[in-house]
Amino acid sequence: MKGVRGRPSPLNNHTSTILKWIKDGHTVAEIVKLCATELGIGTQESAVRNLFKRDFKLREAWEQARLYRKAERVVNGEAEAAGVTRVNEDIIIITGEPGKRVDELQIEDILKRRGMEPNEWQVKQVLDNQWEANAGRDPETLLPVKITLFQYKIWMTRKVPLEIVYPAVVGPKIAAPKKPDANKPQLTVVVTDPQNPFRYEELHQLFLRWLAHNKPDRGIVGGDLLDNGYISQHRDDPAWHRTVQQCIQASFDSLYDYRNASEDTAWSVIKGNHDDRIRNEQLERNERLYGVTAAQWPGEEPEEWVYSLNHLLHLKRLGIEYVEPQGTYEHQQVPITDLVAVRHGHMTGKDASIKTAEALGHSIILGHTHRQSILRKTRWNTIARTWHVITAIEAGCMCQIEGGLGYASGGAPDWQPGFATIVSWPDGGYSFDLACFEQPGVLRYRDQVYSL
Ligand SMILES: [Fe+2]
Ligand SMILES: [Fe+2]
Repeated sequence: MKGVRGRPSPLNNHTSTILKWIKDGHTVAEIVKLCATELGIGTQESAVRNLFKRDFKLREAWEQARLYRKAERVVNGEAEAAGVTRVNEDIIIITGEPGKRVDELQIEDILKRRGMEPNEWQVKQVLDNQWEANAGRDPETLLPVKITLFQYKIWMTRKVPLEIVYPAVVGPKIAAPKKPDANKPQLTVVVTDPQNPFRYEELHQLFLRWLAHNKPDRGIVGGDLLDNGYISQHRDDPAWHRTVQQCIQASFDSLYDYRNASEDTAWSVIKGNHDDRIRNEQLERNERLYGVTAAQWPGEEPEEWVYSLNHLLHLKRLGIEYVEPQGTYEHQQVPITDLVAVRHGHMTGKDASIKTAEALGHSIILGHTHRQSILRKTRWNTIARTWHVITAIEAGCMCQIEGGLGYASGGAPDWQPGFATIVSWPDGGYSFDLACFEQPGVLRYRDQVYSL
């Protein structure tokens, strides 16, 4: 074989090395450089191409490599770029390299290259896309070449560590509350949504003074006692991140303060959606241990579910009435009379409170909306010529409102801090009031003013 100037080309002696370079996917320009660096032969692209023409094996390998590169361009053109898309703090989508199957090591490698810790993520869903593509024509037969392309997508979610929570730390014993006298008018206070540990501290302190002064017969906590933002479905926000354990302790501390401020007040607690997050977390992530209790001691009361509020907040020892609902929080209520009950509420929006009252058929005091309002509707029976009024009271909230706990829109929520009271008479009638907290640290109730 002759070179370009009639002399044998020095490349002729290195065809096996050049064949390897072709199979490794090097371009002609790269092979020219390799000839210089690896073989010490100065050459040009035209000389390399001529060598391919002269040598059948090299020509065949080059054609195959060219076809492969073309297929690769098709793959890259029709497929998405490989990489990691961050949907939010807790969800990422990994798009694999075109033509590669899902491979755990590759996933780990991709995450590491992006500075992400593979152990922090778990696969939620794998989509293994597969489709036919045209990769040009076979150089020998000139028939169209079809190739099957692959590209996977993996949805990954951030692993949330399971949090083991313990009952709150207990303070000194408090005397049991008095049984209210059913033959006298009773004052009941309804406080709701302290979202502990995010209670409005100034309001909390003034409320303790209110309790000491008014000594209500009954007190009802209307739900969202715990914030539990860490185990919500919402995105974790470090600014509002408190552990469940912190929520439990702060809730206990608030109840302990209430009991101490007015020892004769008989308290009840109902759950809100935020309190129910402990149950939801159990059912979603630890369902096989849901409902586990300590073994029953012979002759004693059945034990409580270890994650019940009774157990976590020592409600029995605090002398606070609480019945774990069968199912979700929406079904729980505490009646004050036959005509009015306290519920957490599950609706928001215009007239949510009166709509709930009308659906239930009796008057209600609600939390959940964090707003204060009193709406009344007259229900007629024009045949019997009778009427009665249904009342829906939104009690407000005991939580701080600035920043909206990280989830209210714009951080300036339309919430009103305060609480509600109801006086119920033995004949079943009732009257009601709102206590309103305003800046700078003033709580107003009827003709009473409490300030810091
Ligand atoms: Fe709430
Ligand atoms: Fe709520």
